[in-house]
Amino acid sequence: MKPTPVTEASIQHAADLLRGGQLVAFPTETVYGLGADASNPEAVAKIFAAKGRPADHPLIVHIAGAGQIADWADQVPEAAWRLAEKFWPGPLTMILKKRDSVTLAVTGGQDTVGLRVPANPVALRLLQAFGGGVAAPSANRFGRISPTEALHVAEELDDSVACILDGGPCAVGVESTIIDLSDEVPTILRPGRITRSQLKAVLHADIRLSPQTKIRAPGMMAVHYAPNTMAFLCPADTLIAMADDLCAKGQHIGILAFSAEIAEIPCLHILRLPADAELYEPALYSSLRALDNLELDTILIEQPPETEAWAAVNDRLNKATV
Ligand code: TXA
Ligand code: MG
Repeated sequence: MKPTPVTEASIQHAADLLRGGQLVAFPTETVYGLGADASNPEAVAKIFAAKGRPADHPLIVHIAGAGQIADWADQVPEAAWRLAEKFWPGPLTMILKKRDSVTLAVTGGQDTVGLRVPANPVALRLLQAFGGGVAAPSANRFGRISPTEALHVAEELDDSVACILDGGPCAVGVESTIIDLSDEVPTILRPGRITRSQLKAVLHADIRLSPQTKIRAPGMMAVHYAPNTMAFLCPADTLIAMADDLCAKGQHIGILAFSAEIAEIPCLHILRLPADAELYEPALYSSLRALDNLELDTILIEQPPETEAWAAVNDRLNKATV
């Protein structure tokens, strides 16, 4: 399936496809989404089939504005309205108690629903043209690297998707921050561009970090966002020693680095990203994908600082490495 250039007509066509129960891949500011009419269980089922994703994984419902929250969520807390006011449209997903009418196909059988208003103008225009909620996970095969360009989607998904809207590269590049507001204490389920401090500053309340989002011990199985090539995350000095060692053994290695120290390595496949998290993020997935496509023996990734600004990157890298 070739990506379709964005025009008012192609967006209207994509909205018609959604109304017809078909799948449409579209750009958001975070990653490309694989969308279906969230009120149509048969359409939603096609998402799981296309991705090869287990049916108990809940999907985020994308809406055109905070005015649609009540169409999907029940008992909406004050905190949700405040966060929506401050961060929507934008890379924040809120988990709220779902309305009875919301199909369990979308929520993976849970009594909560994830909602987000994306900031990408093509996504917003599509949501406005469609009118309803669009259930959309990242438009990759289950367990693979999220797509940040239309061509990545075309590479991953076959003709099960009726249209891929090409909105160019995604500006943020890592998936939205997910905050669970369905319980007493707000909990971050997935770190993203919007940080815990930013959320705290609006809510004036403590915000928990779900244990899953904390840095995991090395050696644990990667279940998400993983390249096919064996990938290791290590500090610059260890990385240089490992690279020398592996090269001496005749391995073909790739390196993803951001600090100047790494410049000296005589390695053919070194990708250097900016040392600023907000500039690193948009390049992360396309760089991992590019290295993965080279069919190298090993990918070495320089460990970023353990600061809040790098929380989303660290979370994704921990999941992508052994
Ligand atoms: O940035 C994003 O959020 C992108 C773009 C397309 O919007 N979407 C995305 O979707 O990353 P996906 O399906 O790849 O990840 C959604 C995450 C999953 O980890 C899922 O478990 C969680 O959101 N989620 C969705 N609804 C939930 C719910 N009701 N309760 C708990 N977690 C939920
Ligand atoms: Mg995903």
